[in-house]
Amino acid sequence: MNPFLVLAVVLLLVLYIFRVATTRPPNFPPGPPSLPIYGAYWLLLLNNWTYIHKAIEKMRCRYRSNLLGFYLGGVPTVVACDYETIKEIETRPEFLGRMDTIIARERGLGKLLGVILADGPLWAHQRRYMLRHMRDFGFGTRSASLENLVQQEIQDMVDILNGKKQDKGIYRDGLALLPDLFFHILLNAIWSMYAGDRFSYTDHGHARFIAQQGIKFVRANDPTGRALALTPWIRHIFPQKSGFTQIRNTNTKLVEVIKKTIDEHIRTHSEDHMRDFIDIYIKEMKTNENNPNGSPFSEEQLIFLGWDLLVSTATTLTTTLSMYIMYMMHHPEVQSNIQNEIDTVVGHNRLPTLNDRSKMPYMEASLRELMRISSIFSLGIAHRATEDTHLRGYFIPKNTMLLTGLHSYHNDPEVWGDPHIYRPERFLDEKGQLLKKDLTLPFGAGKRLCAGETFGRQNMWLILTGLLQNFTLAVPKGQKPPDLHTVNGFHQTSPEVWFQPLPRT
Ligand code: HEM
Repeated sequence: MNPFLVLAVVLLLVLYIFRVATTRPPNFPPGPPSLPIYGAYWLLLLNNWTYIHKAIEKMRCRYRSNLLGFYLGGVPTVVACDYETIKEIETRPEFLGRMDTIIARERGLGKLLGVILADGPLWAHQRRYMLRHMRDFGFGTRSASLENLVQQEIQDMVDILNGKKQDKGIYRDGLALLPDLFFHILLNAIWSMYAGDRFSYTDHGHARFIAQQGIKFVRANDPTGRALALTPWIRHIFPQKSGFTQIRNTNTKLVEVIKKTIDEHIRTHSEDHMRDFIDIYIKEMKTNENNPNGSPFSEEQLIFLGWDLLVSTATTLTTTLSMYIMYMMHHPEVQSNIQNEIDTVVGHNRLPTLNDRSKMPYMEASLRELMRISSIFSLGIAHRATEDTHLRGYFIPKNTMLLTGLHSYHNDPEVWGDPHIYRPERFLDEKGQLLKKDLTLPFGAGKRLCAGETFGRQNMWLILTGLLQNFTLAVPKGQKPPDLHTVNGFHQTSPEVWFQPLPRT
């Protein structure tokens, strides 16, 4: 081959790579350069192949900046790693968009539906509507009937762990399985409001099947969307490796379960008796049927509102509860402090109720600390800039992806001092009372604040205090305490772990 030709090709290639590496929007935040096709994603992977949030943390140290900017494929991306900038992203109206990706569209059967992955007027309207009407059934508020239902479920769990009832899928040979132990309780709580029904006591397997589809869906990608979002065509070449098959298969099963329930509601619908959220929504669909301006209410939107609620519950709360128990296995001293608090405030003759919550600051602090240290939404859920704008003096072009670096912020030594130590006391004053201001942001903030925060906090509190009142959470005999790693995904999920619930006498 002609050596001049080879030299020319090499030169052109070098020039091309140089051009790609140095192309950035003007006045963009500092960050790693780009390489062809995937931009800076290559360099992030090189820093940490599995956990992109850990690669981001390294970049934050390297560039000494709490606001990083780089290209992911062709998408300008910024990551905020401090409280003020994260709050700014969460609150400014021009940052409320969501990314339009192949994953979001595959999930919504071609459309951007539900609340989590929608934006614009449809998102604002449907979020407001869902919160307003789910509230009537106990979601996001204090509700005696919901609390009652959850307590029955907790009693059921206690009975299983005491050997009074049997479910070998979650408890056998004296050991209980995480996160499966919590699927039934939590799915019943959310399903009772959305679909007016609960999965039967004897069929824990069905709830487990649904939760497992949700977890597999979440684990099929990561908060950036990975190669599948950046180069959607790779699904035709690597359908398995890109996670596309897993997303499609699990989504099909989830949609099937929800659609079947909605169809049954449509068949038995009566205007005189609103059984649940689905019924109210169907009524709204009928009222708006002939609206000449079109209607935001549709069966497909109802499916994905249900999807958001069901999958969020099955994946986030079960993960947080599991991580909590894993940390308790490492910290028996924290566990015994909580048990003392429960014994003093509640005693042993009844399960804890939400009335006891304000009297148990140490318990509250232990959960707050768990959510800080585990930061399961390590990079939040990506926002999108809906117009050209500025952030902290830097230029942010329209359609920039904005990630909230919750892992980095929650583990910043300048804010927390000893962030890698699990220490509930950091949230208590010298009198043992809860600090008024909570600087953690596990649920995000602003208009996109997690819709399930109140529901989540209340039910995690009820389940954990019920468990700790009745059992000491121990490492199985002869084993070491579990590794505290999480499994990567759109958000982090907990691995499967067995623990030994020792009945308290
Ligand atoms: C420990 C449990 C949970 C954590 C840590 C968590 C965290 C988050 C975070 C960080 C966001 C993104 C906020 C943003 O866009 O900036 C979010 C959004 C959301 N979460 Fe949660 N979540 C949890 C549980 C739940 C539950 C149980 C539900 C429903 C039952 C839920 C429903 C939602 C919805 C609908 C959104 C989208 C809000 C919007 O875009 O308007 N979450 N959550």
